[in-house]
Amino acid sequence: MNLDGNRDKYESPEVVLYYETQTELQPCEAYIFKKYVKPGLAILDMGVGAGRTTSFLSNGAQRYVGADYSRAMIDSFGIRYPHLERHQCDATEMSQFLDSEFDVVVFSFNGIDVIDSDNARLRCLSETARILKPGGVFIFSSHNAKILAAWPKLSGARVHQILWRILLSLVKSVRFTFNAFSGVQFSNGEGYIRDPVHGGMDHYVSTPETMSLQLKSVGFEIMEYVGGHFPEVKSAYLTPWYYYACRKTVGV
Ligand SMILES: C[S@@+](CC[C@H](N)C(=O)[O-])C[C@H]1O[C@@H](n2cnc3c(N)ncnc32)[C@H](O)[C@@H]1O
Repeated sequence: MNLDGNRDKYESPEVVLYYETQTELQPCEAYIFKKYVKPGLAILDMGVGAGRTTSFLSNGAQRYVGADYSRAMIDSFGIRYPHLERHQCDATEMSQFLDSEFDVVVFSFNGIDVIDSDNARLRCLSETARILKPGGVFIFSSHNAKILAAWPKLSGARVHQILWRILLSLVKSVRFTFNAFSGVQFSNGEGYIRDPVHGGMDHYVSTPETMSLQLKSVGFEIMEYVGGHFPEVKSAYLTPWYYYACRKTVGV
Protein backbone atom coordinates (compact mmCIF):
# COMPACT_ATOMS: atom_id res chain seq x y z
CA MET A 1 0.00 0.00 0.00
CA ASN A 2 1.19 3.53 -0.77
CA LEU A 3 -0.55 5.99 1.49
CA ASP A 4 2.10 8.66 0.85
CA GLY A 5 0.37 9.47 -2.45
CA ASN A 6 -2.91 10.40 -0.76
CA ARG A 7 -1.76 13.89 0.16
CA ASP A 8 -0.79 14.64 -3.47
CA LYS A 9 -4.31 13.66 -4.58
CA TYR A 10 -5.80 16.28 -2.26
CA GLU A 11 -3.54 18.94 -3.81
CA SER A 12 -4.71 18.16 -7.35
CA PRO A 13 -7.06 20.69 -9.05
CA GLU A 14 -9.52 17.95 -10.19
CA VAL A 15 -9.93 16.56 -6.67
CA VAL A 16 -10.29 20.04 -5.16
CA LEU A 17 -12.93 20.82 -7.81
CA TYR A 18 -14.79 17.63 -6.88
CA TYR A 19 -14.97 18.70 -3.22
CA GLU A 20 -16.00 22.24 -4.24
CA THR A 21 -19.10 20.74 -5.88
CA GLN A 22 -20.09 18.85 -2.71
CA THR A 23 -22.55 20.87 -0.67
CA GLU A 24 -24.96 18.46 1.03
CA LEU A 25 -24.59 16.74 4.38
CA GLN A 26 -25.14 12.98 4.37
CA PRO A 27 -28.21 12.04 6.48
CA CYS A 28 -25.95 10.17 8.95
CA GLU A 29 -23.81 13.31 9.40
CA ALA A 30 -26.80 15.62 9.73
CA TYR A 31 -28.18 13.36 12.47
CA ILE A 32 -24.88 13.21 14.42
CA PHE A 33 -24.13 16.95 13.98
CA LYS A 34 -27.62 18.01 15.12
CA LYS A 35 -27.46 15.76 18.15
CA TYR A 36 -23.92 16.51 19.38
CA VAL A 37 -22.95 19.98 18.09
CA LYS A 38 -24.85 22.52 20.16
CA PRO A 39 -24.83 26.32 19.58
CA GLY A 40 -22.15 28.45 21.30
CA LEU A 41 -19.25 25.96 21.05
CA ALA A 42 -15.65 26.22 19.78
CA ILE A 43 -15.39 23.86 16.79
CA LEU A 44 -12.38 22.62 14.81
CA ASP A 45 -13.35 21.19 11.39
CA MET A 46 -10.26 19.09 10.58
CA GLY A 47 -9.80 17.95 6.95
CA VAL A 48 -12.34 20.62 6.05
CA GLY A 49 -11.62 20.31 2.30
CA ALA A 50 -13.52 22.96 0.36
CA GLY A 51 -15.95 23.51 3.25
CA ARG A 52 -18.85 21.14 2.60
CA THR A 53 -19.66 20.97 6.33
CA THR A 54 -18.88 24.62 7.11
CA SER A 55 -22.23 26.36 6.82
CA PHE A 56 -23.87 23.81 9.09
CA LEU A 57 -21.11 23.72 11.71
CA SER A 58 -20.20 27.42 11.78
CA ASN A 59 -23.78 28.60 12.08
CA GLY A 60 -24.30 29.33 15.79
CA ALA A 61 -20.73 28.41 16.78
CA GLN A 62 -18.90 30.65 19.25
CA ARG A 63 -15.73 29.93 17.19
CA TYR A 64 -15.29 27.87 14.02
CA VAL A 65 -11.88 26.91 12.58
CA GLY A 66 -11.33 25.09 9.28
CA ALA A 67 -8.06 23.13 8.94
CA ASP A 68 -6.56 20.91 6.26
CA TYR A 69 -3.06 19.71 5.37
CA SER A 70 -3.68 20.40 1.68
CA ARG A 71 -2.69 23.94 0.64
CA ALA A 72 -5.06 23.73 -2.35
CA MET A 73 -8.02 22.67 -0.19
CA ILE A 74 -7.47 25.34 2.45
CA ASP A 75 -7.10 28.01 -0.27
CA SER A 76 -10.39 26.88 -1.81
CA PHE A 77 -12.01 26.99 1.64
CA GLY A 78 -10.61 30.53 2.11
CA ILE A 79 -12.13 31.74 -1.16
CA ARG A 80 -15.53 30.39 -0.18
CA TYR A 81 -15.38 31.49 3.47
CA PRO A 82 -12.87 34.42 3.64
CA HIS A 83 -14.26 35.62 6.99
CA LEU A 84 -13.61 32.33 8.81
CA GLU A 85 -10.44 31.29 10.66
CA ARG A 86 -8.37 28.70 8.76
CA HIS A 87 -5.09 26.84 9.18
CA GLN A 88 -2.97 24.63 6.98
CA CYS A 89 -2.36 21.89 9.49
CA ASP A 90 -1.70 18.14 9.67
CA ALA A 91 -4.08 16.27 11.95
CA THR A 92 -1.20 14.19 13.29
CA GLU A 93 0.66 17.27 14.60
CA MET A 94 -1.52 20.12 15.88
CA SER A 95 1.00 22.10 17.93
CA GLN A 96 -0.59 25.40 16.84
CA PHE A 97 -3.59 24.53 19.02
CA LEU A 98 -3.52 24.63 22.83
CA ASP A 99 -4.59 21.88 25.21
CA SER A 100 -8.39 21.96 25.77
CA GLU A 101 -8.93 24.69 23.14
CA PHE A 102 -12.04 23.16 21.51
CA ASP A 103 -15.43 21.76 22.55
CA VAL A 104 -15.87 19.80 19.31
CA VAL A 105 -13.48 18.39 16.70
CA VAL A 106 -14.92 17.02 13.44
CA PHE A 107 -12.97 14.95 10.89
CA SER A 108 -15.67 14.22 8.30
CA PHE A 109 -16.05 12.00 5.22
CA ASN A 110 -13.53 9.31 6.26
CA GLY A 111 -10.62 11.78 6.19
CA ILE A 112 -8.96 9.94 9.07
CA ASP A 113 -8.65 6.80 6.91
CA VAL A 114 -6.12 8.35 4.52
CA ILE A 115 -3.58 9.00 7.31
CA ASP A 116 -0.50 7.09 6.27
CA SER A 117 0.12 4.56 9.10
CA ASP A 118 -1.33 3.08 12.29
CA ASN A 119 1.10 5.14 14.39
CA ALA A 120 0.17 8.36 12.62
CA ARG A 121 -3.55 7.66 13.08
CA LEU A 122 -2.96 7.11 16.82
CA ARG A 123 -1.03 10.41 16.96
CA CYS A 124 -4.03 12.10 15.31
CA LEU A 125 -6.41 10.59 17.89
CA SER A 126 -4.15 11.55 20.77
CA GLU A 127 -3.65 15.13 19.44
CA THR A 128 -7.42 15.41 19.04
CA ALA A 129 -7.91 14.33 22.65
CA ARG A 130 -5.30 16.87 23.78
CA ILE A 131 -6.93 19.89 22.10
CA LEU A 132 -10.44 18.95 23.28
CA LYS A 133 -11.81 20.05 26.65
CA PRO A 134 -12.65 17.27 29.13
CA GLY A 135 -16.05 15.98 28.03
CA GLY A 136 -15.46 17.41 24.52
CA VAL A 137 -16.85 15.67 21.46
CA PHE A 138 -14.97 14.10 18.56
CA ILE A 139 -17.02 13.29 15.43
CA PHE A 140 -15.55 11.39 12.49
CA SER A 141 -16.24 8.56 10.09
CA SER A 142 -14.25 5.52 8.98
CA HIS A 143 -14.77 2.96 6.21
CA ASN A 144 -16.19 -0.39 7.25
CA ALA A 145 -13.79 -3.35 7.07
CA LYS A 146 -16.69 -5.82 6.88
CA ILE A 147 -18.41 -4.55 3.73
CA LEU A 148 -19.14 -7.25 1.16
CA ALA A 149 -21.69 -5.60 -1.13
CA ALA A 150 -23.00 -2.18 -2.18
CA TRP A 151 -26.67 -1.32 -1.75
CA PRO A 152 -28.02 0.85 -4.62
CA LYS A 153 -29.75 4.11 -3.69
CA LEU A 154 -32.98 3.84 -5.69
CA SER A 155 -35.28 6.35 -4.02
CA GLY A 156 -36.22 9.14 -6.44
CA ALA A 157 -34.40 7.45 -9.37
CA ARG A 158 -35.93 7.15 -12.89
CA VAL A 159 -36.12 3.79 -14.69
CA HIS A 160 -32.84 4.17 -16.62
CA GLN A 161 -31.12 5.44 -13.46
CA ILE A 162 -32.39 2.46 -11.51
CA LEU A 163 -30.78 0.05 -14.00
CA TRP A 164 -27.53 2.02 -14.00
CA ARG A 165 -27.36 2.21 -10.19
CA ILE A 166 -28.03 -1.52 -9.84
CA LEU A 167 -25.27 -2.25 -12.36
CA LEU A 168 -22.82 0.05 -10.53
CA SER A 169 -23.67 -1.61 -7.21
CA LEU A 170 -23.03 -5.04 -8.73
CA VAL A 171 -19.61 -3.93 -9.97
CA LYS A 172 -18.78 -2.42 -6.57
CA SER A 173 -20.00 -5.56 -4.80
CA VAL A 174 -17.62 -7.72 -6.83
CA ARG A 175 -14.76 -5.41 -5.80
CA PHE A 176 -15.76 -5.40 -2.12
CA THR A 177 -16.04 -9.19 -2.01
CA PHE A 178 -12.74 -9.60 -3.85
CA ASN A 179 -11.05 -7.18 -1.39
CA ALA A 180 -12.57 -8.98 1.59
CA PHE A 181 -11.23 -12.38 0.61
CA SER A 182 -7.87 -11.31 -0.80
CA GLY A 183 -6.74 -9.27 2.25
CA VAL A 184 -6.77 -9.54 6.04
CA GLN A 185 -9.03 -6.58 6.81
CA PHE A 186 -12.29 -8.53 6.67
CA SER A 187 -11.15 -11.18 9.18
CA ASN A 188 -9.10 -8.78 11.36
CA GLY A 189 -11.72 -6.02 11.34
CA GLU A 190 -9.09 -3.55 10.19
CA GLY A 191 -6.44 -3.06 7.54
CA TYR A 192 -5.65 -1.13 4.38
CA ILE A 193 -7.32 -1.42 1.00
CA ARG A 194 -7.03 0.04 -2.50
CA ASP A 195 -10.01 2.21 -3.50
CA PRO A 196 -10.49 3.46 -7.10
CA VAL A 197 -11.71 6.86 -5.82
CA HIS A 198 -9.90 9.89 -7.37
CA GLY A 199 -7.94 7.60 -9.71
CA GLY A 200 -6.89 5.22 -6.90
CA MET A 201 -6.14 5.81 -3.24
CA ASP A 202 -5.09 3.47 -0.43
CA HIS A 203 -6.87 3.82 2.88
CA TYR A 204 -7.58 2.31 6.27
CA VAL A 205 -10.80 0.41 7.07
CA SER A 206 -12.09 -0.56 10.52
CA THR A 207 -15.09 -1.72 12.53
CA PRO A 208 -16.71 -0.16 15.61
CA GLU A 209 -14.89 -2.81 17.70
CA THR A 210 -11.39 -2.14 16.36
CA MET A 211 -11.96 1.63 16.33
CA SER A 212 -13.24 1.56 19.91
CA LEU A 213 -9.95 0.03 21.15
CA GLN A 214 -7.90 2.80 19.49
CA LEU A 215 -10.19 5.50 20.84
CA LYS A 216 -10.07 4.08 24.39
CA SER A 217 -6.26 3.99 24.30
CA VAL A 218 -6.19 7.82 24.05
CA GLY A 219 -9.10 8.56 26.39
CA PHE A 220 -12.25 8.56 24.23
CA GLU A 221 -15.46 6.58 24.62
CA ILE A 222 -17.89 6.05 21.75
CA MET A 223 -21.28 7.57 22.64
CA GLU A 224 -22.99 6.51 19.43
CA TYR A 225 -22.26 5.36 15.91
CA VAL A 226 -24.52 5.08 12.85
CA GLY A 227 -24.06 3.40 9.48
CA GLY A 228 -23.64 5.28 6.21
CA HIS A 229 -27.17 4.29 5.08
CA PHE A 230 -28.77 6.02 8.08
CA PRO A 231 -31.76 6.32 8.72
CA GLU A 232 -32.02 2.87 7.12
CA VAL A 233 -30.32 0.21 9.19
CA LYS A 234 -28.42 -2.22 6.98
CA SER A 235 -26.38 -5.32 7.77
CA ALA A 236 -22.67 -4.70 8.52
CA TYR A 237 -21.94 -6.41 5.19
CA LEU A 238 -23.77 -3.60 3.35
CA THR A 239 -22.53 -0.64 5.41
CA PRO A 240 -19.93 1.52 3.60
CA TRP A 241 -18.75 3.49 6.66
CA TYR A 242 -19.70 4.41 10.19
CA TYR A 243 -20.12 7.89 11.67
CA TYR A 244 -18.91 8.07 15.28
CA ALA A 245 -19.65 10.52 18.09
CA CYS A 246 -17.08 10.13 20.90
CA ARG A 247 -16.53 11.85 24.22
CA LYS A 248 -13.21 12.71 25.83
CA THR A 249 -13.35 11.00 29.21
CA VAL A 250 -9.94 12.12 30.48
CA GLY A 251 -10.17 14.91 33.07
CA VAL A 252 -13.96 14.66 33.40
C1 LIG B 1 -12.48 12.93 1.93
S1 LIG B 1 -11.91 14.59 1.97
C2 LIG B 1 -13.25 15.38 2.85
C3 LIG B 1 -13.27 16.89 2.73
C4 LIG B 1 -14.39 17.56 3.51
N1 LIG B 1 -14.31 17.29 4.94
C5 LIG B 1 -15.73 17.10 3.00
O1 LIG B 1 -16.39 16.36 3.74
O2 LIG B 1 -16.12 17.47 1.88
C6 LIG B 1 -10.66 14.45 3.23
C7 LIG B 1 -9.99 15.76 3.57
O3 LIG B 1 -9.12 15.55 4.67
C8 LIG B 1 -7.87 16.16 4.42
N2 LIG B 1 -6.87 15.39 5.17
C9 LIG B 1 -6.54 14.10 5.00
N3 LIG B 1 -5.59 13.74 5.88
C10 LIG B 1 -5.30 14.84 6.62
C11 LIG B 1 -4.40 15.11 7.67
N4 LIG B 1 -3.56 14.17 8.14
N5 LIG B 1 -4.40 16.34 8.21
C12 LIG B 1 -5.22 17.30 7.74
N6 LIG B 1 -6.09 17.12 6.72
C13 LIG B 1 -6.14 15.89 6.17
C14 LIG B 1 -7.71 16.10 2.90
O4 LIG B 1 -6.80 17.06 2.40
C15 LIG B 1 -9.14 16.32 2.43
O5 LIG B 1 -9.41 17.68 2.27
